[in-house]
Amino acid sequence: MRHQREKYIGIKFQPVFCGSFLPTKEELAKIKKLIYIGKKIGTLGIKDKNGGNLSFRTKDGLVIKRTGVLPFQLKVKDFVKVIKVVGSNVFVLGQHEPSSESRLHWLIYQARKDVNYIFHCHDFSAVYHREKFSDVGYLPAFSYGTMALAKAVEDKAKYYDYLILKNHGVIALSQNPEMALMLLQEMMKNLEKLAKKLPKTIEFENGQLKIIDQRFLPKKLKIVNLKNYQQVIEAIKKMKIRGAEAIGAAAAGGIFLAAQKYSGKKLSGMKKFLQQVAGKIKKTRPTAINLAWGLRQILSGLKADSVSALQEKIKQRYELFLRSETEDNFQIGKYGNQLIKNGARILTHCNAGSLSSIWFGTGLAPIFAAHLAGKKIKVLIDETRPWLQGSRLTAWEMARVGIKYQIQIDSAAEYLMSHKMVDLVLVGADRIAANGDTANKIGTYPLAVLAQRHHIPFYVAADSASIDFKTKTGQNIKIEERDDAEILKAISYRGERISPEKAKGFNPVFDVTPAKLITEIITEYGIFKPTQLKILEKQLEKSL
Ligand code: MRU
Repeated sequence: MRHQREKYIGIKFQPVFCGSFLPTKEELAKIKKLIYIGKKIGTLGIKDKNGGNLSFRTKDGLVIKRTGVLPFQLKVKDFVKVIKVVGSNVFVLGQHEPSSESRLHWLIYQARKDVNYIFHCHDFSAVYHREKFSDVGYLPAFSYGTMALAKAVEDKAKYYDYLILKNHGVIALSQNPEMALMLLQEMMKNLEKLAKKLPKTIEFENGQLKIIDQRFLPKKLKIVNLKNYQQVIEAIKKMKIRGAEAIGAAAAGGIFLAAQKYSGKKLSGMKKFLQQVAGKIKKTRPTAINLAWGLRQILSGLKADSVSALQEKIKQRYELFLRSETEDNFQIGKYGNQLIKNGARILTHCNAGSLSSIWFGTGLAPIFAAHLAGKKIKVLIDETRPWLQGSRLTAWEMARVGIKYQIQIDSAAEYLMSHKMVDLVLVGADRIAANGDTANKIGTYPLAVLAQRHHIPFYVAADSASIDFKTKTGQNIKIEERDDAEILKAISYRGERISPEKAKGFNPVFDVTPAKLITEIITEYGIFKPTQLKILEKQLEKSL
């Protein structure tokens, strides 16, 4: 997800006029109920360090709990009544302080006439926003947060009863507080269940990166520690970690490690050093744009006045990075799930699942979301020569989560499609050009051709960070070529030779599917036809 400046400042707010806040008996009862529910929310997974807002509608305005108090610390006096909406700020009686959060609650009430209560808990990353965005010239935490909310209000709050907002928290909208609590509880429960089954692909702990060494799956779940950026480079090159989002996260982690280990005293020296490290990491794999993007996320616009301050800033950025990517993936899942019918048979290629990301995946996110929503689905997995990301990794994820699957050889797709055994094709992306042409694992393009021939929808699901608006068409995407040993030996990472000694191989590892073969692209911002990417680009440009 690209970070955006406040662009909703121009939204017109309908002024409301209310008296001072002396709660009526009725309101007092409602507030007490909200406190009770707030305490319950405080016992969910979103409790630590999280302030939040709870509000309810009244006939003449809105009653809201002030920001900054944990739900389980709520008191009646924390609730204030919004008396006046001025421009883009809401002023609350008594404090005369603008509460950008209040205005967003107000906005949601305007958009959703059926909603009477809003529960809104901040996740911890919201705390870091002020830090992160003030130094790159963005607006401080609150405005950024409210911008994200405003966006949610604009297009999502209309359709969803709860929203997970990147770098901000969770909002539940409801006609009644119990219902909102139930929604939140259900969501947390589902995600927790899934988290137990699918370990994170990359985490950082005690100043080191912990990654799953994917070469050993499905036989062994081997976690390895990466202690310095050189080990990160090696891990990416050797496919210990792979998949566009995951290598983006590893790349960003490489900068984090390099920064922590920097022992010089000069800030300028450190900045130069980090740029050099970024240059080296960038060369590891050329196709997935997420790699360069991950580096930029950590390095762009960094300002600090000492080496240690810069180290701290980078740490915070990385922490936020790891968290926010997953939130994008939830959104991709939520959108993509709309395209999946109960009983659907979904063909996928390579691994665009949790292992290709930090958690939850991109191409497989809609599949997880459909499963969590109780849909019975079957995933048809291409084995994906030569690294077998499909039969080793996607199959491993499906087995762990309990989703029905089968594995077929890559060239069986035409058989499956012509025998009406496929309802949709769903793949990830390593880079999407501005015109929608999409680079993904070699073998994706033929699937799209076949899908068109058999009138089967072909979807790409990817984080908007995988869209490279600077690359006009797929022809300009650099395709990685890897060692031919990967195809001349039985399974390259363990393999015995299967071809004659002197055989030569050719091993391009990605191909480019032309935009006109892609039905739709699912992103964290919604679902777009490839030709509509221009709209997304314009929106993002305007907001940057
Ligand atoms: O060579 P890999 O395993 O890194 O290739 C991965 C893919 O092609 C995935 O489909 C792609 O990265 C999308 S998943 C975020």
